[in-house]
Amino acid sequence: MQVISDINDLREIRRTWQNASKVIAFVPTMGNLHQGHLNLVREAKKHADIVVVSIFVNPMQFGPDEDLDAYPKTIENDKRLLQELSVDALFLPQASDIYARGLEQQTFVEVPGISYMICGASRPGHFRGVATIVCKLFNMVQPNLAFFGEKDFQQLQVIKAMVTDLSMNLKIFGVATTREEDGLAMSSRNQYLKEEERKLAPTLYTKMQGLVKEISEGRRDFNKLTNEYKQELAALGFNPDYIEIRNRDTLLQPGHEDTELVLLVAAFLGKTRLIDNLQITL
Ligand code: PAF
Repeated sequence: MQVISDINDLREIRRTWQNASKVIAFVPTMGNLHQGHLNLVREAKKHADIVVVSIFVNPMQFGPDEDLDAYPKTIENDKRLLQELSVDALFLPQASDIYARGLEQQTFVEVPGISYMICGASRPGHFRGVATIVCKLFNMVQPNLAFFGEKDFQQLQVIKAMVTDLSMNLKIFGVATTREEDGLAMSSRNQYLKEEERKLAPTLYTKMQGLVKEISEGRRDFNKLTNEYKQELAALGFNPDYIEIRNRDTLLQPGHEDTELVLLVAAFLGKTRLIDNLQITL
């Protein structure tokens, strides 16, 4: 596995792949890799000749009160895991190269509408930061394919919208959420959970399954239903941020004709914000 920090080196090696007509897949990450990330890499390998992974903890997508400095960094372990999967190249850019003119003056990419709702409403500016870094990384790696986890469902839809809106020449793949044996969606933030919180955390998924079952049994009063589940989660010790049932593609409130929906949930357990989602077909 080649470890590359310099953008020019990356462009040079990319040219050799292109000259050899290789299909290039890209998996952008912020490191602290777990099985969820590794499954993105495994999926990428099925579709491409070359797999590039990036690790960059992107300051632009963290809010002022969020955990940028505390974000776990485990680079040596990450390298080992990627090497074991025979990843071709690991791109490790420096923040000073990525935001050479400083964050204040950085040109940004914003996908309006979809970036402002749900998680975007709770985390203003977050999806601008995500879209900007993903756009920049796409310009650097110039992949044919890119892989993102469905765990961050809104992020995935923001990126798909950006790719469509800016006529980017690549295909985006969403990969199913990887779960712990007890159902908790894998996330770097799970390690912040205290022992008792970790025991309770999988209940979020169990409750989501319960809600989806009620819909499959015919309930359509979505507002009432999500409010009931909010109260149940609160009674269990969660601090729910939102529980939303939305159109799966647009993430708008579903109309009567919509059949492809998604349940999106964010809830705090202590200081840790957990997010999860489940797709629903009526
Ligand atoms: O999902 C993530 O890890 C990040 O949001 C991403 C896509 C790597 C952009 O920084």
